[in-house]
Amino acid sequence: MNDSFAERPIGAFDSGVGGLTVVQAMRELLPAEDILYLGDTARVPYGNKSPETIIRYSRENLAYLRRHDVKAVVVACNTASAHALAVLQRESDVPVIGVIAPGVEAALAATRNRRIGIIGTQGTIQSAAYQNLLREMQPDIFILAEAAPLLVSLVEEDWLSHPATQLILEEYLAPMRAAQVDTVVLACTHYPLLKSLAQRILGPGVVLVDSAQNAAAALARKLDAAHLSRAPHAQTGLITICTTDLPTQISRLAERFLGEKIQSVQQVSVDSGGGQ
Ligand code: DGL
Repeated sequence: MNDSFAERPIGAFDSGVGGLTVVQAMRELLPAEDILYLGDTARVPYGNKSPETIIRYSRENLAYLRRHDVKAVVVACNTASAHALAVLQRESDVPVIGVIAPGVEAALAATRNRRIGIIGTQGTIQSAAYQNLLREMQPDIFILAEAAPLLVSLVEEDWLSHPATQLILEEYLAPMRAAQVDTVVLACTHYPLLKSLAQRILGPGVVLVDSAQNAAAALARKLDAAHLSRAPHAQTGLITICTTDLPTQISRLAERFLGEKIQSVQQVSVDSGGGQ
């Protein structure tokens, strides 16, 4: 790979702005990289849609990022990774990294009693993508997987320390405590924001696996192996954020997920030939 290819941005997409938690983790680990982020806010949520629809949306998102000459693509959305990653990897000419395998590897490395819990959207849990990969790598593992669909809205409302969120999270995590899992995978873009609350509920003995951090680490390894990493510059890389719906109202929410100030958000169309 030549040097100018390594100078290209990394593409990342999600159903909305939640995937900026993954961008934040990428940013911490790979500060010199430019990142082009696509949030499919016109069609969010993905969590309750059919696999066919998710695959179609994901293909369009990948094609949009490829048209913008990215050197690798991160599927920041757990639901899209669960349903569409294999298709995207088959069809792409640049590396495509999902969030599931990195989360599974981290969970297996963390567990001591071989009892793992997973919470995610309806689509992620129903796809059994995490469960299948965990069993493939460790056949005798105990898994408790549970959909926690209310959490996305609570995070978007910024109800991170609201009593209602505490009650709902306690309800979702009660079976995990009863099953004595010692590791819980936070298998959704939004859940890293609930990490400290979940840790308080589950206690210090339970390891919470944040798929954002692990996906960023997997990306860094992949870029290095393919000689695609940008040489570290004094200057930090540029983050460009695009959404498929009007960006009004999005910026504040996006800043919360990204953990830094956002200059601008531009609206684009993922139709080939369309906007930007
Ligand atoms: N980004 C989705 C995920 O990680 C959560 C939001 C949605 O349902 O679209 O699964």
